[in-house]
Amino acid sequence: MSKIKIGIVGTGYIGNVHARIFSRDERCEIAALYDIKPERAERTAKSVGGKVCFSREELLENCDAVLVTAPNKTHKEIAAHAVAENKHVFCEKPFSIGLDDAKKLLEIAQKGKGVFQVGHNRRYAPVYAKLKELLNEDKAHSAHVKMNRGELKNPVWTGDPEITGGFLYETTIHLFDMMRFQFGEIAELIAYGSQHEYPELDEFSIIFKFKSGFHCTFASSSDASWHFPFERIEVFCHHRTILTEEMERLFDSKGFDANFETLSWHMTEKEERWGYVQEDRAFIDAIEKGTEPPVTALDGYKAVELVESVYQAIKTGERIKFQ
Ligand SMILES: NC(=O)c1ccc[n+]([C@@H]2O[C@H](COP(=O)([O-])OP(=O)(O)OC[C@H]3O[C@@H](n4cnc5c(N)ncnc54)[C@H](O)[C@@H]3O)[C@@H](O)[C@H]2O)c1
Repeated sequence: MSKIKIGIVGTGYIGNVHARIFSRDERCEIAALYDIKPERAERTAKSVGGKVCFSREELLENCDAVLVTAPNKTHKEIAAHAVAENKHVFCEKPFSIGLDDAKKLLEIAQKGKGVFQVGHNRRYAPVYAKLKELLNEDKAHSAHVKMNRGELKNPVWTGDPEITGGFLYETTIHLFDMMRFQFGEIAELIAYGSQHEYPELDEFSIIFKFKSGFHCTFASSSDASWHFPFERIEVFCHHRTILTEEMERLFDSKGFDANFETLSWHMTEKEERWGYVQEDRAFIDAIEKGTEPPVTALDGYKAVELVESVYQAIKTGERIKFQ
């Protein structure tokens, strides 16, 4: 069987992370690279190979599968173009920005012939896979979740809501997806937000109620320090607390005393600890087997819907209910 030809649009930070991982998978090869700054594509080509292309059209002529790893506001157009050319698509988060574009891209992706996968890598991180396993054995009652960033300065565009779509589209959206993955579909939410350091809402407090009756509080700040852990999920079950710290550790405390078990992945390579290796393998598996990928266009859409609902709740002061 011939190798799957990978094309990468946007060879910045995360484009290179995926490029390195795919270059080690024998089932595929890095075939084509395109970046609006050609020197970036050239640099990537030097480390993992691939033809440096000077337009998206040229890239699409030279690959079977496209990684969309340019900044947020470009995702819809690039992904839709790739689907139109019958390519398999791996679209980094966010799926797109704004509900209108998300709806259009969902329709396009669902009619496409190839695989469409969204880059919510955390689902594959060992710490969150373990949390899901433990929650399948127990019944969670409620949770407290936080997802902070230290700043919106690196890359520079992360501080520009015209490009990101808003702070919640940056890292917070990962844990919105994670909540659906761990706790199921959301029934309603209320939210408060305020603006401090950046020219947009940058501090959030949200309460989610799930269809199962489960509920959780959620805090997210764009201008916290990078104090460890910047992301944490604390789940309360029957005389039990399960706590995660970033992608590093999970604590499981059961019963009536303060004992707990600790699982740690700090010795695991970051690419695997954060789930990137596993999500990239899943993408190639889905292409080879013709199966649905584990994180679909609909999952990507639902994460965007949550982001937009939180902004709407803050703007209107109303409780948002989902069908
Ligand atoms: N899943 C994750 O953990 C994760 C981590 C980081 C970034 N991301 C997402 O990946 C995307 C890229 O983030 P990054 O940190 O790699 O940014 P980056 O700035 O490091 O890289 C983006 C690259 O895209 C290029 N580019 C910009 N517009 C383009 C266009 N129209 N066509 C082709 N290339 C273009 C830029 O020149 C740059 O080289 C963002 O959407 C971000 O949200 C996801």
